[in-house]
Amino acid sequence: MENITRLLFLFAALSAAAAYWRPGLENQPYCAIDNRCCKNREDDCSHRILDTICYCDEFCNRSRTHDDCCPDYEEVCLGIVPPPPLTRQPCRHHNDFYEIGDKRQDNCNTCQCIADENNPNGGRWSCEKDECLMSDEVVNGVSRAGLGWRARNYTQFYGKKLQDGIKFKLGTLPLTAETQRMVPIRYEKDIAYPNNFDSRTRWPQFISPIVDQGWCGSDWAVSIASIASDRFAIQSNGAERMILSPQSLLSCNRRQQKGCEGGHIDVAWNFARNEGLLDEECFPYTANVTRCPFKPRGSLIQDGCRPAVRRRTSRYKVGPPGRLDKEQDIMFDIMESGPVQAVMTVYQDFFHYQDGIYRRSPYGNNRYQGLHSVRIVGWGEDYQGKYWIVANSWGREWGENGYFRIARGDNESGIESFIVTVLADVTEAQRK
Ligand SMILES: *[C@@H]1O[C@H](CO)[C@@H](O)[C@H](O)[C@H]1NC(C)=O
Ligand SMILES: *[C@@H]1O[C@H](CO)[C@@H](O)[C@H](O)[C@H]1NC(C)=O
Ligand SMILES: *[C@@H]1O[C@H](CO)[C@@H](O)[C@H](O)[C@H]1NC(C)=O
Ligand SMILES: *[C@@H]1O[C@H](CO)[C@@H](O)[C@H](O)[C@H]1NC(C)=O
Repeated sequence: MENITRLLFLFAALSAAAAYWRPGLENQPYCAIDNRCCKNREDDCSHRILDTICYCDEFCNRSRTHDDCCPDYEEVCLGIVPPPPLTRQPCRHHNDFYEIGDKRQDNCNTCQCIADENNPNGGRWSCEKDECLMSDEVVNGVSRAGLGWRARNYTQFYGKKLQDGIKFKLGTLPLTAETQRMVPIRYEKDIAYPNNFDSRTRWPQFISPIVDQGWCGSDWAVSIASIASDRFAIQSNGAERMILSPQSLLSCNRRQQKGCEGGHIDVAWNFARNEGLLDEECFPYTANVTRCPFKPRGSLIQDGCRPAVRRRTSRYKVGPPGRLDKEQDIMFDIMESGPVQAVMTVYQDFFHYQDGIYRRSPYGNNRYQGLHSVRIVGWGEDYQGKYWIVANSWGREWGENGYFRIARGDNESGIESFIVTVLADVTEAQRK
């Protein structure tokens, strides 16, 4: 009869899922209370535990499970020191442990700790496998290679995907046959060019500041507005010194254009020519497509701009855009009338540029690429060779205070393959 009772206890304990006493109870002394361990079967050799009884006799250990042994039976009576309790921490990363469902970032990729079907107590990391904008391979490779420029790990780019960098830090759509038909301009002037020329020192007050396009593929609009600003100031000799806003193009030039997902430069230049642009004070850049304030008559007042000190009543317009493709013609045009637009090919390593003369490196992703419109403000030459000085649109924190230098004369990254020049329409201001 007693045998049966004890077997029943055994069954009850077995059916409990954990097959252990309730947490906390196992750390208390039982057999250790009177240090009494008994041979064979001795039902008095027991202790109360919860509303039942545990035993410190050898009988408690006679089956393969010994669930009616007191929790400290093995340790006290058999001298077996139990292993430390198993803490279930399924995923690990460096010295940190994670539970099922926890997430962590690995640069631009999210990793989640998921249950491992092969290991009931464990988990494993399931990670996105996208290419990231910032790459250790580029940072380390370029620094070691001595290419004439240095690469940097930019905090503002870290954690972003390469595809988002290409889409939202650039923004020039592929050049169409229509774009390629832009009128070519040839000067072929046989003159001596200076070794160094910088619009910022030639026209100190007239060169517009570096813009940060944000996470909006608006380089096409930013470069056009900046170049138009510079040229209005230069051609009017300071009479029309204002900063033109890329927002006019982003919000109003919607036909054939994709806003923050890119634009065609010829379409945009033609819009600046036919419709005109507003200045930053009137219509500031927001890195987003917003409602267009343009009214049909093309007058600044009607568009909602305050009259203020402007010398004109109509929007700022430019002449027809023209295309340059010879190094010396590009230099001549900059010296004569100011910064020009260039469309370059951008590979992953370019995003890391810190300083020096950029040349495409073998590091990083060399397949995935995009077109980028930038503003060439001058050129120079040093012991490393000839270069262009170019304004980028990723803020002043990037590169050389927002600028970069790139090898000149051998079409590095296509920088000399599509250069656009234009004249500002300063006639209205001059009439006044
Ligand atoms: C029971 O105790 C003996 C020592 O007395 C030990 O060798 C054996 O492994 C134990 N059995 C179980 C199932 O714990
Ligand atoms: C790059 O910067 C991020 C933080 O901005 C940092 O977590 C990461 O370890 C850096 N990578 C390298 C290669 O220095
Ligand atoms: C841009 O506009 C969209 C839609 O109006 C909005 O959802 C988004 O938050 C805006 N982004 C920024 C950066 O203002
Ligand atoms: C310059 O480079 C671009 C892009 O790499 C290429 O498409 C173009 O044909 C090149 N132009 C010249 C004149 O070599």
